[in-house]
Formats: sequence, structure tokens, C-alpha cells
Amino acid sequence: MIVVRDPKTRDALVPLIEPTLKRYIAQARAGESPWNTVHETRVSEADIAATPTPLPMIRALTHAPVVLFVFVDLSVVASFDRHLDRVGVISGASVYPFVWNILLAARAEGYGGTLTTFVGGSEAELQALLGVPSHMAFAAMIPMGRPVKQLTKLRRKAVDEFATLERFDGTTLRTDG
Ligand SMILES: Cc1cc2nc3c(=O)[nH]c(=O)nc-3n(C[C@H](O)[C@H](O)[C@H](O)COP(=O)(O)O)c2cc1C
Repeated sequence: MIVVRDPKTRDALVPLIEPTLKRYIAQARAGESPWNTVHETRVSEADIAATPTPLPMIRALTHAPVVLFVFVDLSVVASFDRHLDRVGVISGASVYPFVWNILLAARAEGYGGTLTTFVGGSEAELQALLGVPSHMAFAAMIPMGRPVKQLTKLRRKAVDEFATLERFDGTTLRTDG
């Protein structure tokens, strides 16, 4: 984990995020799930180039009081899905619980953070910027500070909207007794 406070580094992060966010916004506007690896995009490079980026939003994240960067060491992590014909997800499982614990611990101390990954679209440039070796994969950028308001109630789906018994097409798991 790297703790970034240097204003020069923060400024250098903005152009690393922009192209990824541009594509994300263009796909979202077209009704697609941005950056998914299953459905081909119908959005053209011209559409993406013409999409404006919300610079104030990016800067709010890169210029939070502190910005944490978490990487996972691919030379030691067991990537059990490495031979499957799809994008790998299991390597992330060795690091995202750590990220989540950082967020929970920060909250308990009166701070707040947000899990972001969009700088990952420019991983090589990020590794060069922070001096990270190429076998360390970017996992998370966590802007952190003292929230102006500590959130209490979050919007979340009800468990019975996504949990089933025994099989994917099984009976909905009821949580109301
Ligand atoms: C794996 C993951 C990656 C995310 N990456 C980004 C990101 O790159 N940029 C961003 O603005 N929000 C990102 N988010 C969304 C925020 O972390 C956060 O979930 C969102 O602000 C909503 O807050 P909530 O989850 O507390 O409801 C990501 C969320 C997850 C779970």
C-alpha cells in the first residue's frame, strides 16, 4: 500500500484516469454496462473522444486529504482462474478484503474513503508514476478524508433480490422468517 500526499503525484493521476472515465461515461450513456468483458461495445472511438470528462469529480478524488494505492503481488498470489477463457477475478480476492478492512477501520475512526479502480485502465503509467514493479497489479485507489457528513443508511438491494437456494434458478432465499 502506498500513501500519496504529494501534489505533483495527485496532478499526474488526473490524465491517467481521464481516458478510462471517458469510455465509461460514453458506454453508460449508450445504455451499456461500462467496461464489461462479455458484450461488445457499440460505442465508437469517436463517441468516446467526444465525451466530456468531469474533471472536478476526478480532482475531488485525486486531491482528497490522502490517497491510498493498493497493489497485489502477482508473483505470490494463487490465481486459480488463470487458465479460464475470461477475465481473471480470483487474484483480486486476495486483496479486496484488505481494502474493505481499511474502509471499515477508517470509518470507525471518523474518517471515510471510497473504493475506486478507474486509474487501473492506465496501470503501466501508474506503476511508472509510483515506482511500482510490473508484477504488482493495481487493485485500488482509495481517496480518504474526514467526511462532511458521516453516512448511516445506504441504498442496498434486499437479500431476496439476489440470493437463491441450492441453484441459480432455485427458490428465492427469504429473509423475513
Ligand atoms: C470494485 C469497485 C470499484 C469502483 N471503482 C470506482 C471508480 O473507479 N470510480 C468511482 O467514482 N467509483 C467507483 N466505485 C464506486 C464507489 O466505490 C462507491 O461504491 C460509490 O461511491 C457508492 O457508494 P456506496 O457503495 O457506499 O453506496 C467502485 C466500487 C467498487 C465496488
